Amino acid sequence: MKHIIISIFICFNCIVCFAQLKADNENQSDSSKPYALVAGGSKGIGYGIAEALAKRGYNLILIARHLDTLQFVKNKLQTKYPIHVEILAIDLSFDSSAYVIAKWCTDRKIHLKVLCNVAGLGGANDYLSFPLDSLRYMVSLNIESCMALSLTLLPLLEKNTPSYILNVASMAGFAPIPIKNIYSATKSAVVFFSYSLRYQLEDKHISVSCLCPGPVFTKPEIVKDTKAKLGWFGMKMALDPGTVGEYAIKKTFKKKLIIVPGTLAKISSSIIRFLPRRWVVSLYGKAGKKKSK
Ligand SMILES: NC(=O)c1ccc[n+]([C@@H]2O[C@H](COP(=O)([O-])OP(=O)(O)OC[C@H]3O[C@@H](n4cnc5c(N)ncnc54)[C@H](OP(=O)(O)O)[C@@H]3O)[C@@H](O)[C@H]2O)c1
Repeated sequence: MKHIIISIFICFNCIVCFAQLKADNENQSDSSKPYALVAGGSKGIGYGIAEALAKRGYNLILIARHLDTLQFVKNKLQTKYPIHVEILAIDLSFDSSAYVIAKWCTDRKIHLKVLCNVAGLGGANDYLSFPLDSLRYMVSLNIESCMALSLTLLPLLEKNTPSYILNVASMAGFAPIPIKNIYSATKSAVVFFSYSLRYQLEDKHISVSCLCPGPVFTKPEIVKDTKAKLGWFGMKMALDPGTVGEYAIKKTFKKKLIIVPGTLAKISSSIIRFLPRRWVVSLYGKAGKKKSK
Protein backbone atom coordinates (compact mmCIF):
# COMPACT_ATOMS: atom_id res chain seq x y z
CA MET A 1 0.00 0.00 0.00
CA LYS A 2 2.84 2.32 1.02
CA HIS A 3 4.51 1.69 -2.35
CA ILE A 4 1.32 2.45 -4.25
CA ILE A 5 0.89 5.79 -2.40
CA ILE A 6 4.54 6.73 -3.09
CA SER A 7 4.14 5.81 -6.79
CA ILE A 8 0.96 7.90 -7.09
CA PHE A 9 2.76 10.81 -5.36
CA ILE A 10 5.73 10.56 -7.78
CA CYS A 11 3.40 10.34 -10.81
CA PHE A 12 1.45 13.39 -9.60
CA ASN A 13 4.69 15.38 -9.19
CA CYS A 14 5.84 14.35 -12.66
CA ILE A 15 2.55 15.53 -14.18
CA VAL A 16 2.83 18.90 -12.33
CA CYS A 17 6.45 19.35 -13.48
CA PHE A 18 5.56 18.42 -17.06
CA ALA A 19 2.67 20.90 -17.10
CA GLN A 20 4.94 23.63 -15.67
CA LEU A 21 7.65 22.91 -18.26
CA LYS A 22 5.08 23.00 -21.08
CA ALA A 23 3.71 26.35 -19.84
CA ASP A 24 7.27 27.77 -19.57
CA ASN A 25 8.05 26.61 -23.09
CA GLU A 26 4.87 28.13 -24.45
CA ASN A 27 5.60 31.46 -22.72
CA GLN A 28 9.14 31.42 -24.03
CA SER A 29 8.07 30.62 -27.56
CA ASP A 30 5.56 33.49 -27.33
CA SER A 31 8.14 36.12 -26.41
CA SER A 32 10.76 34.64 -28.74
CA LYS A 33 8.39 34.95 -31.70
CA PRO A 34 9.43 37.75 -34.07
CA TYR A 35 8.14 41.26 -33.41
CA ALA A 36 6.53 43.78 -35.73
CA LEU A 37 6.44 47.46 -34.78
CA VAL A 38 3.44 49.43 -36.03
CA ALA A 39 3.86 53.20 -35.64
CA GLY A 40 0.24 54.41 -35.59
CA GLY A 41 -1.16 50.94 -34.89
CA SER A 42 -4.06 51.76 -32.55
CA LYS A 43 -6.67 52.79 -35.13
CA GLY A 44 -7.63 52.79 -38.80
CA ILE A 45 -5.22 51.31 -41.35
CA GLY A 46 -2.54 50.83 -38.66
CA TYR A 47 -4.89 48.63 -36.65
CA GLY A 48 -5.77 46.69 -39.84
CA ILE A 49 -2.05 46.11 -40.41
CA ALA A 50 -1.50 45.13 -36.75
CA GLU A 51 -4.30 42.56 -36.88
CA ALA A 52 -2.99 41.09 -40.17
CA LEU A 53 0.42 40.63 -38.45
CA ALA A 54 -1.18 39.16 -35.30
CA LYS A 55 -2.99 36.59 -37.48
CA ARG A 56 0.42 35.52 -38.82
CA GLY A 57 1.75 35.01 -35.27
CA TYR A 58 3.84 38.19 -34.91
CA ASN A 59 4.26 39.77 -31.49
CA LEU A 60 3.50 43.48 -31.72
CA ILE A 61 4.81 46.83 -30.54
CA LEU A 62 2.08 49.41 -31.11
CA ILE A 63 2.79 53.13 -30.98
CA ALA A 64 0.26 55.99 -30.78
CA ARG A 65 -0.36 59.05 -28.60
CA HIS A 66 -3.42 57.91 -26.63
CA LEU A 67 -2.74 55.27 -23.97
CA ASP A 68 -6.41 54.33 -23.45
CA THR A 69 -6.90 53.30 -27.10
CA LEU A 70 -3.58 51.44 -27.08
CA GLN A 71 -4.56 49.55 -23.91
CA PHE A 72 -7.94 48.63 -25.40
CA VAL A 73 -6.35 47.35 -28.62
CA LYS A 74 -3.66 45.43 -26.70
CA ASN A 75 -6.31 43.55 -24.68
CA LYS A 76 -8.39 42.87 -27.78
CA LEU A 77 -5.49 41.45 -29.82
CA GLN A 78 -4.01 39.43 -26.93
CA THR A 79 -7.40 37.86 -26.26
CA LYS A 80 -7.94 36.97 -29.90
CA TYR A 81 -4.42 35.79 -30.86
CA PRO A 82 -1.61 33.90 -29.01
CA ILE A 83 0.83 36.85 -29.12
CA HIS A 84 2.41 39.50 -26.86
CA VAL A 85 1.48 43.12 -27.48
CA GLU A 86 3.69 45.92 -26.13
CA ILE A 87 2.37 49.49 -26.23
CA LEU A 88 4.20 52.82 -26.21
CA ALA A 89 2.32 56.10 -25.89
CA ILE A 90 4.64 58.46 -27.78
CA ASP A 91 4.08 61.42 -30.13
CA LEU A 92 5.96 60.49 -33.29
CA SER A 93 6.20 64.10 -34.45
CA PHE A 94 8.81 64.85 -31.75
CA ASP A 95 12.47 64.85 -32.84
CA SER A 96 13.48 62.55 -29.97
CA SER A 97 10.81 59.86 -30.52
CA ALA A 98 12.74 57.68 -32.98
CA TYR A 99 15.73 57.51 -30.58
CA VAL A 100 13.51 56.71 -27.59
CA ILE A 101 11.75 53.90 -29.50
CA ALA A 102 15.00 52.42 -30.86
CA LYS A 103 16.56 52.45 -27.36
CA TRP A 104 13.48 50.81 -25.87
CA CYS A 105 13.68 48.00 -28.48
CA THR A 106 17.48 47.58 -28.21
CA ASP A 107 17.47 47.46 -24.38
CA ARG A 108 14.91 44.63 -24.51
CA LYS A 109 16.75 42.81 -27.33
CA ILE A 110 13.56 42.84 -29.38
CA HIS A 111 13.65 40.36 -32.26
CA LEU A 112 12.36 42.96 -34.74
CA LYS A 113 11.52 41.69 -38.22
CA VAL A 114 8.88 44.15 -39.45
CA LEU A 115 8.61 47.94 -39.20
CA CYS A 116 5.39 49.61 -40.37
CA ASN A 117 5.40 53.42 -40.58
CA VAL A 118 1.68 54.17 -40.70
CA ALA A 119 0.94 57.29 -38.61
CA GLY A 120 0.15 60.28 -40.76
CA LEU A 121 -2.09 63.30 -40.97
CA GLY A 122 -4.35 64.18 -43.89
CA GLY A 123 -7.58 66.16 -43.94
CA ALA A 124 -9.54 67.84 -46.70
CA ASN A 125 -7.64 71.17 -46.70
CA ASP A 126 -4.09 72.31 -46.13
CA TYR A 127 -1.48 74.88 -47.22
CA LEU A 128 -3.49 78.08 -47.89
CA SER A 129 -5.89 77.46 -44.99
CA PHE A 130 -3.55 75.97 -42.34
CA PRO A 131 -1.27 77.88 -39.96
CA LEU A 132 2.46 77.24 -40.43
CA ASP A 133 2.67 75.20 -37.21
CA SER A 134 0.07 72.71 -38.46
CA LEU A 135 1.88 72.35 -41.77
CA ARG A 136 5.17 71.73 -39.96
CA TYR A 137 3.45 69.14 -37.78
CA MET A 138 2.16 67.38 -40.93
CA VAL A 139 5.60 67.39 -42.52
CA SER A 140 7.31 66.05 -39.41
CA LEU A 141 4.73 63.30 -38.79
CA ASN A 142 4.25 62.21 -42.42
CA ILE A 143 7.89 62.32 -43.57
CA GLU A 144 10.36 62.78 -40.74
CA SER A 145 8.98 60.15 -38.38
CA CYS A 146 8.98 57.54 -41.17
CA MET A 147 12.57 58.33 -42.19
CA ALA A 148 13.81 58.59 -38.60
CA LEU A 149 12.30 55.28 -37.42
CA SER A 150 13.58 53.47 -40.52
CA LEU A 151 17.10 54.71 -39.74
CA THR A 152 17.19 54.18 -35.96
CA LEU A 153 15.64 50.69 -36.18
CA LEU A 154 17.82 49.56 -39.10
CA PRO A 155 20.44 47.83 -36.89
CA LEU A 156 17.72 45.63 -35.33
CA LEU A 157 16.15 44.84 -38.71
CA GLU A 158 19.62 43.95 -40.03
CA LYS A 159 20.12 41.49 -37.18
CA ASN A 160 16.90 39.66 -38.02
CA THR A 161 16.95 39.33 -41.78
CA PRO A 162 15.02 38.65 -43.92
CA SER A 163 13.12 41.65 -42.59
CA TYR A 164 10.59 44.16 -43.90
CA ILE A 165 9.77 47.87 -43.86
CA LEU A 166 6.28 48.98 -44.87
CA ASN A 167 5.82 52.73 -45.34
CA VAL A 168 2.31 54.07 -45.70
CA ALA A 169 2.00 56.82 -48.31
CA SER A 170 -1.20 57.33 -50.34
CA MET A 171 -2.48 57.50 -53.91
CA ALA A 172 -2.12 61.24 -53.23
CA GLY A 173 1.63 60.62 -53.42
CA PHE A 174 1.36 59.99 -57.18
CA ALA A 175 -0.05 63.41 -58.03
CA PRO A 176 0.11 67.10 -57.10
CA ILE A 177 -3.26 67.85 -55.44
CA PRO A 178 -3.87 71.61 -55.00
CA ILE A 179 -6.31 71.37 -52.08
CA LYS A 180 -4.05 68.83 -50.35
CA ASN A 181 -0.86 70.54 -51.42
CA ILE A 182 1.44 69.67 -48.51
CA TYR A 183 -0.25 66.32 -47.85
CA SER A 184 0.36 65.08 -51.41
CA ALA A 185 3.91 66.52 -51.28
CA THR A 186 4.67 64.60 -48.06
CA LYS A 187 3.23 61.38 -49.47
CA SER A 188 5.22 61.68 -52.71
CA ALA A 189 8.32 62.09 -50.52
CA VAL A 190 7.43 58.81 -48.78
CA VAL A 191 6.99 57.07 -52.18
CA PHE A 192 10.39 58.29 -53.48
CA PHE A 193 12.08 57.55 -50.13
CA SER A 194 10.75 53.98 -50.31
CA TYR A 195 11.99 53.42 -53.88
CA SER A 196 15.53 54.52 -52.96
CA LEU A 197 15.63 52.77 -49.59
CA ARG A 198 14.53 49.51 -51.18
CA TYR A 199 17.45 49.74 -53.60
CA GLN A 200 19.88 50.62 -50.80
CA LEU A 201 18.79 47.75 -48.52
CA GLU A 202 18.39 45.03 -51.13
CA ASP A 203 21.84 43.53 -50.40
CA LYS A 204 21.08 43.49 -46.69
CA HIS A 205 17.96 41.36 -47.29
CA ILE A 206 15.61 44.02 -45.96
CA SER A 207 12.63 44.48 -48.25
CA VAL A 208 10.97 47.92 -48.45
CA SER A 209 7.35 48.33 -49.55
CA CYS A 210 5.12 51.36 -49.85
CA LEU A 211 1.35 51.23 -49.40
CA CYS A 212 -0.52 53.77 -51.56
CA PRO A 213 -4.24 53.40 -50.89
CA GLY A 214 -7.09 55.44 -52.32
CA PRO A 215 -9.84 56.46 -49.87
CA VAL A 216 -10.08 54.25 -46.78
CA PHE A 217 -13.10 54.77 -44.57
CA THR A 218 -11.41 55.20 -41.20
CA LYS A 219 -13.53 58.17 -40.09
CA PRO A 220 -16.82 59.90 -41.07
CA GLU A 221 -15.04 62.98 -42.55
CA ILE A 222 -13.33 60.75 -45.14
CA VAL A 223 -16.68 59.25 -46.20
CA LYS A 224 -18.19 62.77 -46.59
CA ASP A 225 -15.19 64.15 -48.45
CA THR A 226 -14.93 61.17 -50.81
CA LYS A 227 -18.63 61.39 -51.66
CA ALA A 228 -18.44 65.14 -52.33
CA LYS A 229 -15.20 65.26 -54.31
CA LEU A 230 -14.98 61.90 -56.07
CA GLY A 231 -18.70 60.98 -56.18
CA TRP A 232 -19.89 57.50 -57.20
CA PHE A 233 -16.43 56.50 -58.45
CA GLY A 234 -14.75 57.45 -55.16
CA MET A 235 -17.34 55.55 -53.11
CA LYS A 236 -16.78 52.44 -55.26
CA MET A 237 -13.02 52.80 -54.94
CA ALA A 238 -13.03 53.21 -51.13
CA LEU A 239 -12.10 50.28 -48.88
CA ASP A 240 -12.33 49.44 -45.19
CA PRO A 241 -9.16 49.49 -43.06
CA GLY A 242 -9.23 45.74 -42.32
CA THR A 243 -9.15 44.85 -46.03
CA VAL A 244 -6.34 47.34 -46.65
CA GLY A 245 -4.26 46.06 -43.70
CA GLU A 246 -4.59 42.41 -44.76
CA TYR A 247 -3.71 43.18 -48.40
CA ALA A 248 -0.77 45.38 -47.40
CA ILE A 249 0.80 42.68 -45.21
CA LYS A 250 0.22 39.93 -47.77
CA LYS A 251 2.01 41.99 -50.43
CA THR A 252 4.76 43.18 -48.04
CA PHE A 253 5.73 39.55 -47.35
CA LYS A 254 5.74 38.98 -51.13
CA LYS A 255 8.27 41.87 -51.32
CA LYS A 256 6.09 44.04 -53.55
CA LEU A 257 7.36 47.63 -53.81
CA ILE A 258 4.25 49.73 -54.56
CA ILE A 259 1.08 48.34 -53.03
CA VAL A 260 -2.25 49.76 -54.23
CA PRO A 261 -5.23 47.89 -52.76
CA GLY A 262 -8.45 47.57 -54.83
CA THR A 263 -8.98 47.18 -58.58
CA LEU A 264 -10.41 50.67 -59.20
CA ALA A 265 -7.61 52.30 -57.19
CA LYS A 266 -5.03 50.29 -59.17
CA ILE A 267 -6.51 51.42 -62.51
CA SER A 268 -6.84 55.06 -61.39
CA SER A 269 -3.33 55.20 -59.99
CA SER A 270 -1.86 53.75 -63.21
CA ILE A 271 -3.66 56.45 -65.24
CA ILE A 272 -2.60 59.21 -62.83
CA ARG A 273 1.04 58.12 -63.04
CA PHE A 274 0.88 58.04 -66.84
CA LEU A 275 -0.86 61.38 -67.54
CA PRO A 276 1.09 64.67 -67.80
CA ARG A 277 1.33 66.34 -64.36
CA ARG A 278 -0.30 69.61 -65.52
CA TRP A 279 -3.45 67.67 -66.54
CA VAL A 280 -3.55 65.78 -63.26
CA VAL A 281 -3.14 68.91 -61.15
CA SER A 282 -6.00 70.55 -63.04
CA LEU A 283 -8.29 67.49 -62.67
CA TYR A 284 -7.65 67.33 -58.92
CA GLY A 285 -7.95 71.12 -58.67
CA LYS A 286 -11.47 71.02 -60.16
CA ALA A 287 -12.56 68.08 -57.98
CA GLY A 288 -11.17 69.87 -54.91
CA LYS A 289 -13.46 72.86 -55.46
CA LYS A 290 -16.54 70.68 -54.81
CA LYS A 291 -17.61 71.26 -51.21
CA SER A 292 -18.53 68.40 -48.85
CA LYS A 293 -22.06 68.77 -47.36
N1 LIG B 1 -7.79 56.97 -44.48
C1 LIG B 1 -7.51 57.20 -45.74
O1 LIG B 1 -8.38 57.45 -46.58
C2 LIG B 1 -6.08 57.14 -46.20
C3 LIG B 1 -5.81 57.06 -47.56
C4 LIG B 1 -4.49 57.01 -47.99
C5 LIG B 1 -3.46 57.05 -47.08
N2 LIG B 1 -3.74 57.14 -45.75
C6 LIG B 1 -2.61 57.19 -44.81
O2 LIG B 1 -2.70 56.07 -43.95
C7 LIG B 1 -2.19 56.40 -42.66
C8 LIG B 1 -3.22 56.08 -41.60
O3 LIG B 1 -4.42 56.77 -41.88
P1 LIG B 1 -5.76 56.45 -41.07
O4 LIG B 1 -6.88 57.09 -41.79
O5 LIG B 1 -5.81 55.01 -40.75
O6 LIG B 1 -5.48 57.32 -39.74
P2 LIG B 1 -6.19 57.24 -38.29
O7 LIG B 1 -7.42 56.39 -38.34
O8 LIG B 1 -6.33 58.66 -37.85
O9 LIG B 1 -5.10 56.50 -37.39
C9 LIG B 1 -3.85 57.08 -37.22
C10 LIG B 1 -3.02 56.26 -36.25
O10 LIG B 1 -1.79 56.96 -36.02
C11 LIG B 1 -1.71 57.40 -34.64
N3 LIG B 1 -1.14 58.74 -34.63
C12 LIG B 1 -1.63 59.86 -35.21
N4 LIG B 1 -0.82 60.91 -34.97
C13 LIG B 1 0.22 60.44 -34.23
C14 LIG B 1 1.37 61.03 -33.64
N5 LIG B 1 1.63 62.31 -33.75
N6 LIG B 1 2.19 60.24 -32.91
C15 LIG B 1 1.93 58.92 -32.75
N7 LIG B 1 0.87 58.31 -33.29
C16 LIG B 1 0.02 59.05 -34.00
C17 LIG B 1 -3.16 57.36 -34.15
O11 LIG B 1 -3.29 57.20 -32.74
P3 LIG B 1 -3.37 58.50 -31.76
O12 LIG B 1 -4.43 59.40 -32.31
O13 LIG B 1 -3.71 57.91 -30.43
O14 LIG B 1 -2.03 59.10 -31.76
C18 LIG B 1 -3.67 56.13 -34.89
O15 LIG B 1 -3.20 54.96 -34.27
C19 LIG B 1 -1.81 57.88 -42.73
O16 LIG B 1 -0.44 57.98 -43.00
C20 LIG B 1 -2.63 58.41 -43.90
O17 LIG B 1 -2.04 59.51 -44.51
C21 LIG B 1 -5.03 57.19 -45.30
